Amino acid sequence: MKLIDALQDEHILIDQVLGSFRTYVGRLVDGTADPDDGRRFAAFFTEFAGHFHHDREERVLVDALVTEAELPGDRGPLRAVAQEHAQTEGWLREMMPFLEQRPQSEGDRVRLRALATRYSHALWRHIDAENSVLYPEGVERLRRCGIRELPDRPMNAAEAVAREDGAALLVRYPPVEDGALARGDGCFMCQAYGETCDGLEAEWWTEREWEEFYNW
Ligand SMILES: [Fe+2]
Ligand SMILES: [Fe+2]
Repeated sequence: MKLIDALQDEHILIDQVLGSFRTYVGRLVDGTADPDDGRRFAAFFTEFAGHFHHDREERVLVDALVTEAELPGDRGPLRAVAQEHAQTEGWLREMMPFLEQRPQSEGDRVRLRALATRYSHALWRHIDAENSVLYPEGVERLRRCGIRELPDRPMNAAEAVAREDGAALLVRYPPVEDGALARGDGCFMCQAYGETCDGLEAEWWTEREWEEFYNW
């Protein structure tokens, strides 16, 4: 499905820019980062990751899974996706004052570093859950009701600028991988598992899928 291919490509960029953002925040502490780049990172996560990427996930993919595949939107994976989008957008807003102007005090820089770690960890795990569960399982369920493609839209001007700036920031601030974060595929690695979602089998499997499972 072309939309899913596009969303997965966007995940690669968002994943890398999160690592680049962590490098940037680290360099702010020792004074070797350009403070104006904070605004560029903020625009990338707001315009490209939020307004472009999350918007199409919610308004096209999730909408089709609810209306066409008749999956529940008020619990399970679809609720988790919406909640994580809202949560990380809130956390991005918390970082905005530190990104729009250079953090003035040591306390500000320490605070920004903690906020950036929290934000990057959540989005990295969100990307892993979508790549390994939501996208493949969602595509399969849409295929079963005869849907092989979903509509997409081009980036608007602000989103395209944010994407270009994100790619440029990657060069300026080589991405780090955070060894403190355990990443992986499947429901067991998902932030929502055991909290607001009981996992794919409990939330999405039909009687027929359970029957097939037992027969197999
Ligand atoms: Fe998402
Ligand atoms: Fe995503």
